[in-house]
Amino acid sequence: MPSSDAFIPFRRPRRLRTNPVMRNFTAETDLNPNRFVLPMFIADRPDAAGAQPISSLPGVVQHTESTMLRAVEEAMEAGVGAIDLFGVPKEEDKDATGSAGIDAGGVLNRAIATVRREFGNEILVMADTCLDEFTDHGHCGVLGTDPLGEAIIDNDATLEAYAAMALAQADAGAHMVSPSGMMDGQVRRIRETLDAAGHQNVSIMAYSAKYASAFYGPFREAVGSSLQGDRRQYQQDARNVRESLLETQLDIDEGADIVMVKPGMPYLDVLRQVAEMSPVPVAAYQVSGEYAMISAAAEKGWIDLEPAIMESLTGFHRAGADIVLTYWATTAAKLLRQG
Ligand code: PBG
Repeated sequence: MPSSDAFIPFRRPRRLRTNPVMRNFTAETDLNPNRFVLPMFIADRPDAAGAQPISSLPGVVQHTESTMLRAVEEAMEAGVGAIDLFGVPKEEDKDATGSAGIDAGGVLNRAIATVRREFGNEILVMADTCLDEFTDHGHCGVLGTDPLGEAIIDNDATLEAYAAMALAQADAGAHMVSPSGMMDGQVRRIRETLDAAGHQNVSIMAYSAKYASAFYGPFREAVGSSLQGDRRQYQQDARNVRESLLETQLDIDEGADIVMVKPGMPYLDVLRQVAEMSPVPVAAYQVSGEYAMISAAAEKGWIDLEPAIMESLTGFHRAGADIVLTYWATTAAKLLRQG
């Protein structure tokens, strides 16, 4: 073929990729640490015990109060917008109803109060509003039986516990509560309780579309979970997406200020659909198993850690998340600062 007939493209997408300034100029998605949330584990141990590593989450620890304060300060200085506190009670303080999670003197409520006292409104303080860390059976709700005598997680009895827990968290100073137990009606029950107690300005980040997932494995180590069995009676089935839209709509109708999809990476399609229908901000949770996978591959030298972190977080934003919960919140915020 004569060269004058050769195909020469005049539409060249590569023009916008020619150098870093051009790529930054034309990027559709920007990561902003103000919209990162750092989940943190706080254990009921004396400060002298120091932070305890979590073997399946390299770099993540169970904090004591003083190491928690240092880590919060580091997050804040890096520009991270919020922390989400999870309590790890002493084994002997666990019981069937998770009462140590509701008790104002329990490890989680004490931690909330301590962070608020130290940092005021400089960083948002959110807490996990769920019983599983505090129950001796490890379930997110209280156990019961149906009329035929079958064991169930009792939805409506659990709502009472969540209401009390959310109230205790708000009283301790939480800016936000985050019900993660997937009980029907939990957002409404919590909203009514907070409002009746004068906590109209405490917001609710609802775990709206939360799937029963194998990717929560390392979290169970992180909180010393007592769970036997699984959570399939209350968390969603991986094969479904329509029920995520129903769950999200219900939470919005019940008063959720922010809705969440969880886990992240295997559910980006769900995230996209939720983002398209939600009139409130949407969060995504990069869960422990996702962190562990990327960390393990990087430790083996199979992938490059820092670009993998940033690419995974970018994926959430591109799929529609406004807010991302990630154990790499501080790390990623610092990487963004460095450019
Ligand atoms: C429940 C809760 C879980 C996670 C966050 N909140 C565990 C579960 O539902 O089994 C998992 C988070 C993670 O894996 O990083 N309180």
